Amino acid sequence: MSENSPSYKNILVSRLSNSKGLMVGMIQLNRPDVLNALNIETMGELLNALEAFDKDKEIGCMLITGNQKAFAAGADIKEMASQSAIDMYIRDQFATWDKIRKIKKPIIAAASGFVLGGGCELTLTCDIIVAAESTKFGQPEIKLGVIPGAGGTQRLTRAIGKAKAMEMILTGRMYTAKEMFDAGMVSRVVDDEVYLEEAQALAKEIASMPVLALQMAKESVLKSFDTTIEGGLEFERKCFYLLFASEDMKEGMNAFIEKRKPNWKGK
Ligand code: HXC
Repeated sequence: MSENSPSYKNILVSRLSNSKGLMVGMIQLNRPDVLNALNIETMGELLNALEAFDKDKEIGCMLITGNQKAFAAGADIKEMASQSAIDMYIRDQFATWDKIRKIKKPIIAAASGFVLGGGCELTLTCDIIVAAESTKFGQPEIKLGVIPGAGGTQRLTRAIGKAKAMEMILTGRMYTAKEMFDAGMVSRVVDDEVYLEEAQALAKEIASMPVLALQMAKESVLKSFDTTIEGGLEFERKCFYLLFASEDMKEGMNAFIEKRKPNWKGK
């Protein structure tokens, strides 16, 4: 474990190692007084920490979490309320989200409590969502006179389909973890007491895999949202071929044949 970087005000950053010494980069949103509302500064810090972990050779997977009461209750309404359209356009403040989407290593969301608005959209930019049983998901922006602005209408629709996404977005209602699991957005619902441990165990398991294959697997799965089946299959095949240029592919296959555990190099 390393200390939190003193330069971060709104997030706590740490590293968890698995049995092979490979690491998970963990980021905890830490504005509990406002249910982890995502202000501009917090989003900047989050992006900064994710990009640092993405470049870090020891890290194989990342984890974003909040606290029991809230993963995040959305964008910071108090900050947002006074902004003008032109402020937002000039700052292009949601461009941060495009950069999060470009993170190459897998990101797991460990969700609990309120996962609303931009908080729900943040879990949707993650690759896997593990949720505590009592988590409440929602896109309540409609009640504020706006709509989801960080991918909710797009990523949520792709994750759970048009009918359910429309219902969520048009009513602004909250939904249980079980409902979101049934809808296909959440990969696992676990007891409230253990959601973080479960998400950490999953992140450690993923972090023990060869990192280039992890990255290309993530990129290929995400490609399926942007392209035709033909284009996606072609992309997948090229990634598959490309991995044959990696030392880890040779190591993985040799280790299988020699009946031993692989020793990944990350290249
Ligand atoms: C700023 C927030 C906040 C938010 C909660 N707080 N959510 N502050 N932005 N999104 C603050 C409250 O003002 C309060 O501080 C403190 O957190 C505790 O919240 P309470 O409301 O007292 O708690 P509770 O009664 O338990 O109700 C919880 C809640 C409610 C149901 C989650 O807080 C709520 O409805 N929050 C707003 C949810 C929302 O509309 N999210 C979407 C935002 S728009 P004080 O100091 O006042 O006591 C959005 C757009 C995304 O996300 C665009 C792309 C990024």
